[in-house]
Amino acid sequence: MASAAPMAELVLGIESSCDEMAASVVRSGRQVLSSVVSSQDEVHAPYGGVVPELASRDHARVVSGVAEAALSEAAVDLEALDGIAVTAGPGLVGSLLVGLSFAKALAYRARCPLVAVHHLAGHLAAAELADEKLEAPYLGLVVSGGHTALYRVESDVEPRLLGQTLDDAVGEAFDKVAKLLGLGFPGGPAVSRVAENGDPEAVNFPRPMAKKAGLDFSYSGLKTAVALEVARRGGTEALSEAAVADVAASFEAAAVESLVVRARRALRGEGLERIAVVGGVAANRRLRVELGAQGEREGFGVTFPPPALCTDNAVMIAAAGARLLGRGESDGLDLGAFSRVPVGEAPWRHGPQ
Ligand code: KG4
Ligand code: ZN
Repeated sequence: MASAAPMAELVLGIESSCDEMAASVVRSGRQVLSSVVSSQDEVHAPYGGVVPELASRDHARVVSGVAEAALSEAAVDLEALDGIAVTAGPGLVGSLLVGLSFAKALAYRARCPLVAVHHLAGHLAAAELADEKLEAPYLGLVVSGGHTALYRVESDVEPRLLGQTLDDAVGEAFDKVAKLLGLGFPGGPAVSRVAENGDPEAVNFPRPMAKKAGLDFSYSGLKTAVALEVARRGGTEALSEAAVADVAASFEAAAVESLVVRARRALRGEGLERIAVVGGVAANRRLRVELGAQGEREGFGVTFPPPALCTDNAVMIAAAGARLLGRGESDGLDLGAFSRVPVGEAPWRHGPQ
């Protein structure tokens, strides 16, 4: 059971894998003493997407203030920490390196252990922290800007990948559709907001991979279908507010339906009774409502962390780190950053896993 696992006491988490610099102090892997997130929406908005070089520069500018704020909000001295957990991958290497270098320096100064956390294992830890009823085995659905994947999560072994996107991630599709509709950055929340005033049946967009068996996803065809629809209507500039809302709602309905169909298929196939949905797109209202309703109809449990723990944050890194430290794992100060790392692998950790 997740809550019975040994946990390190006071852990500072640091997350900087993409465009959020975040720090958090968590007690015993569960009790959130502070959570500070510095977002870069204004930095990247003019470009309609994350610019890696600008992301790492802004991280370097704010990292020490964010970590200091997390410690002072928690009223915890650096010396009192039992460990520091930091995201080592996957993510943008320049962004990761800022958090990583800072975490190493802090661990050296505090003379406490440092532990590397897999970003997606962090997202899954957010669900376990948010929901005490969530016990392995369960189905984990990770839906973010970089990932769309289903995992079987067990208590004693690493999560097993069941299916993933063959091309774009679902969050990436939300971001690209937002751009096509002239809705700015970040796209997911903007599409979701205008979709509330639209008709989800206005445009019958293809349901990605609807006729394909298995648990993989695909979002590039849906994104292209939205681009063609916008072009057919005379381009972004020609769209009325009502048309933008209808296209957004119809896209959102198709994107969510494909997540729900595969989640149900995986639950049945794996004989699981609970699903946890994590990552930025788990903040999506339509997904929360549709999957929640399916769960009630079909008798499976659904866990969504609160929206602030769905998007990137350091609470999840501290919580995942508390468990690793509790198991006696830690990493050296030669720890490196990794842009691509399958879940369950820890290329930064030497020796037996
Ligand atoms: O987990 P996250 O913060 O960063 C990554 O690890 O990628 O996820 C960010 C993604 C972005 O693509 C963003 O547009 C999407 O999550 N997102 C949403 C919503 N809030 C964030 N997508 C749909 N609806 C939302 N409410
Ligand atoms: Zn993430």
